[in-house]
Amino acid sequence: EKDGYDWFMRKEIFEQPRAIGDGLLGRHDEAGQLQLDEVRISDDELREIDKIIIIGCGTANYAGMVAKYAIEHWTRIPCEVELAHEFRYRDPILTRNTLVVAISQSGETADTLMAIRHAVKQKARVLAICNTNGSTIPRESDAVIYTHAGPEIGVASTKGFSTQLVACYLLGLYLAQVRGNKFGDEIAAVVRELEKMPAHVQRVLDDSASVYELAQRFLGARSVLFLGRHAGFPVALEGALKLKELAYIHAEGFAAGELKHGPIALIEEGLPVFCIVPPRGRDQLHDKMISAIQEIRARGALTIVLAEEDDDEVVPYADVFIPLPTVPTLLQPLVATIPLQLFSCELATLMGHDVDQPRNLAKSVTVE
Ligand code: M6R
Repeated sequence: EKDGYDWFMRKEIFEQPRAIGDGLLGRHDEAGQLQLDEVRISDDELREIDKIIIIGCGTANYAGMVAKYAIEHWTRIPCEVELAHEFRYRDPILTRNTLVVAISQSGETADTLMAIRHAVKQKARVLAICNTNGSTIPRESDAVIYTHAGPEIGVASTKGFSTQLVACYLLGLYLAQVRGNKFGDEIAAVVRELEKMPAHVQRVLDDSASVYELAQRFLGARSVLFLGRHAGFPVALEGALKLKELAYIHAEGFAAGELKHGPIALIEEGLPVFCIVPPRGRDQLHDKMISAIQEIRARGALTIVLAEEDDDEVVPYADVFIPLPTVPTLLQPLVATIPLQLFSCELATLMGHDVDQPRNLAKSVTVE
């Protein structure tokens, strides 16, 4: 059932173009108007929402971090992201007009389940983003967006993550549509960009040979850092988590702007640092990221740069350049995560680890 792949994880990484496509299927009409039929909260109720709190654990939490950038930008509704176990025990302020979005691939994660039970008691509305039909978290929620990734067997989440992102984008666009924040054309334009994502992800997968060479080269690395900004920051955290889980290597993700507030002290000769560069645009994100890369390289870091394929400005500062298709900043996590998933999978394979069942981990964490 691994379809010729050595690991379920690798198979699931390569399934992502299909999974993302399925996640989008039937969610909008020809004109790009969204229809999310599993949302059993009326449009009137959605118009009343004045705060969103996104909860989840591990990779689901990182999907939530990306969602915050997109949902606040499109809807202007204040949006918090919190680890489910922290949320549950801090006595959060919830009202009828709070929308709690619980993200869980399995739908059985105890920390997330306890958190939504708490939210339901406080009369908040709960929407689940989940991959497992009929699991406990969606059953106990007011609404659910299923991610349609198909069963995810590998303990490390891959297609689970990318389809959570798709569901979050759809939710943000849907809320914007219902509340009239953005009208027809703008929503339709983002939907059109989303529709191109399966092909973009396929291209990243097809061009992944350099990632395998990279894994060979960093065999024996003791520590690896990941830097990102904006929507690329959660991608950095996700890249680091994958490496910890699969290769048991110390790895950390940072927001690039945070470097000079401490982490830059870690940079030393030969330290591998993955840098996720935002697409070039009207904002300063791209240029600020380039300055960060220059700073760490001047201190001896080995920079592995993920950037738009024709981003010539960054090439002089890249020891290794991993090209990404040109996509909108908010959607970039869908393409930027792929090489990081492949890198961890490949490195762990070379190290002789069990990629599908890493030590000490369970696919679904059903105890708090
Ligand atoms: O099933 P869930 O999405 O609720 O699981 C949450 C985390 O346990 C999960 O994402 C975990 O971090 C993965 N092993 C990450 O690869």
